[in-house]
Amino acid sequence: MSAGRIARMLALAGLLAPAISCVEGRYSVLSPGGPAAHKLSSLGWPILLVFLFIVAVVWVLLLLVVLRRRGSLDEHAPVDAGGGERWVWIGGFLLPVLVFAAVFVATLTTLGQFPMAHHPGQPEIEVVGHQWWWEVHYTGGGPDRRVTTANELHIPVGRPVEIEVRTTDVIHSFWVPRLHGKVDLIPGHPNRVRIQADRPGTYTGECAEFCGLQHANMRMLVIAENPSDYQRWLARQRGPAAVPRTASSLSGQQIFQTHACALCHTVRGTAALGNIGPDLTHLASRQTLAANTLPNNVANLHAWVVNAPSLKPGVKMPALAQLNGNELHQLVDYLRSLQ
Ligand code: CUA
Repeated sequence: MSAGRIARMLALAGLLAPAISCVEGRYSVLSPGGPAAHKLSSLGWPILLVFLFIVAVVWVLLLLVVLRRRGSLDEHAPVDAGGGERWVWIGGFLLPVLVFAAVFVATLTTLGQFPMAHHPGQPEIEVVGHQWWWEVHYTGGGPDRRVTTANELHIPVGRPVEIEVRTTDVIHSFWVPRLHGKVDLIPGHPNRVRIQADRPGTYTGECAEFCGLQHANMRMLVIAENPSDYQRWLARQRGPAAVPRTASSLSGQQIFQTHACALCHTVRGTAALGNIGPDLTHLASRQTLAANTLPNNVANLHAWVVNAPSLKPGVKMPALAQLNGNELHQLVDYLRSLQ
């Protein structure tokens, strides 16, 4: 195979790879995981295909023009050949008007299928946007059964889940591409969104409205589970924090409660009742740290506790420079025990 041919194939693969990942990726609106996303993808797919077809036609026409006219500028000057206005009227005016009108009507029809009005009744989940993480409340079953967690929503599959979205600071946007379109979190104006996942799985979401330095690292997970798994998870989350069982994690708890940690974080069932940062009652049960930017493991937890701003510049959590190595170890032991 010649070098030129290999280069051409590589170029083609390079063009196709992003296209394939767009369709199959975790953020793909073209691979829906629920009814709302289905409505959007049934609009997105035809539009994408029509526009790809038009692009192909335009390139073929351009190619024809290039191939047809050869020779120098002198030979062709002056160019005053008549005709060709029909191409401009039909291709440049009539067809675009028809295509855009069709897209416009189809878009309005799709938008009309989304319940944008404020629904009566209590939402099942409340999501509160913060710079740069998601606070999540499960409100069903009365105040004493309220569950607070962060950056990780669990939902049962096969039925709609009503979510209210709010913000405490700037505008954010709640977006889980495979489940629903974007819904903005506007200061002073709660919005509603109804998501449903048809199959169990993990869906990735992120903030879709620029909200400051770490906007790109304001992500979340939506974990769709069978109803029984979901109920089990909810029951576990309702329980108080695990009691430390080792000497090290017990010391860690002391450190947590007597240092800055408890001023910002809550661990239900203990003296830590801060409400500035995420609720850590069941931190160890979550898959990620720092709004789905780091896997939740010992190494990352260590790094995060020691110097969060080095991992996520601008984050409100300060570096804990006052703790020595042994204290940090105990603190992380404690955090890892919060199953
Ligand atoms: Cu929150 Cu962007």
